[in-house]
Amino acid sequence: MPAEVYGEKYEFLPRPHILSFEEIERLTRLFVRIGVSKVRITGGEPLVRANLPDLVSKLCVIDGINDVALTTNGYLLENNAQQLKDAGLNRLTVSLDSIDPDVFKEMSGRPQGPTNTLAGIKTAASLGFKQIKINVVVQRGVNEHTLVDTARYFKGTGAIVRFIEFMDVGTKNGWELSQVFTSDEVIQAINTEFPLEPIEPNYKGEVASRYRYVDGSGEIGVISSVSKPFCGDCTRARLSTDGKLITCLFASGGTDLKTPMRSGATDAELAAIINKVWTGRNDRYSELRSNDTEFENDSDDSKVEMYYIGG
Ligand SMILES: C[S@@+](CC[C@H](N)C(=O)[O-])C[C@H]1O[C@@H](n2cnc3c(N)ncnc32)[C@H](O)[C@@H]1O
Repeated sequence: MPAEVYGEKYEFLPRPHILSFEEIERLTRLFVRIGVSKVRITGGEPLVRANLPDLVSKLCVIDGINDVALTTNGYLLENNAQQLKDAGLNRLTVSLDSIDPDVFKEMSGRPQGPTNTLAGIKTAASLGFKQIKINVVVQRGVNEHTLVDTARYFKGTGAIVRFIEFMDVGTKNGWELSQVFTSDEVIQAINTEFPLEPIEPNYKGEVASRYRYVDGSGEIGVISSVSKPFCGDCTRARLSTDGKLITCLFASGGTDLKTPMRSGATDAELAAIINKVWTGRNDRYSELRSNDTEFENDSDDSKVEMYYIGG
């Protein structure tokens, strides 16, 4: 989120424009009817939403939902971890692009280093979350020289670091193909210091390719969203804060579910809208982009931003 646009005083959506927890819960129940069993709460930054653990507890008890996860920048995690755990959250993903304080500050665009985020991860680990993942977006010329140090910090802790290729989501991150440090390069860099071997995916369609440390001290993952796009295996639907159903990270818009819901649509009517969008989708942006040798990040202003769609 460019600081020059979203300064300290920026006014985000007024409360009536965002879905209430009850509305999110209702829509989640409808998604379950058409086959959804996993939910991830992301953002924006989910922990700035007041009473977020209440939403977690509402989602965790929905019949048919067997996995609720949260992606956070970890800044507010230390004080929220216990309540999230008590609410039933079992999986946590924390974004931390570098263990190096200066690189962390540069990439987060904030003057704070990683101290709060690391404290949050430590607290969560001590509370026994079933799984903690650390997301590292790798940008050539920015943080690739700190990858091994970041891997070293978490090696042997049980947390799984996942290195993600820098993607051209939205229009404001100034993406260029030359900034993509590929997964193959990540594996090569880490393998030189800590020998790795590939391991089987946990399930079909898992976005990360898994590698274990040969010395048995854990595993890492790489997400090759640019060099090896996986549109064909993508089963993610995204629901924005303001109630839009978005089927692709690179979409230019979504289908409004909030307006019909607030105008009195029945569950059957809403489910029919969701079903129609899902069965009619044909998104394969990443595959098309990787087949296009002339590709440059287009400046189409209608592309939704990562901080709107959440990853
Ligand atoms: C958009 S953030 C939202 C959730 C939360 N605020 C956070 O920081 O984790 C979700 C995930 O997207 C990843 N991400 C952001 N920009 C990206 C990009 N250009 N390419 C790949 N991943 C990106 C982040 O690292 C994070 O793990």
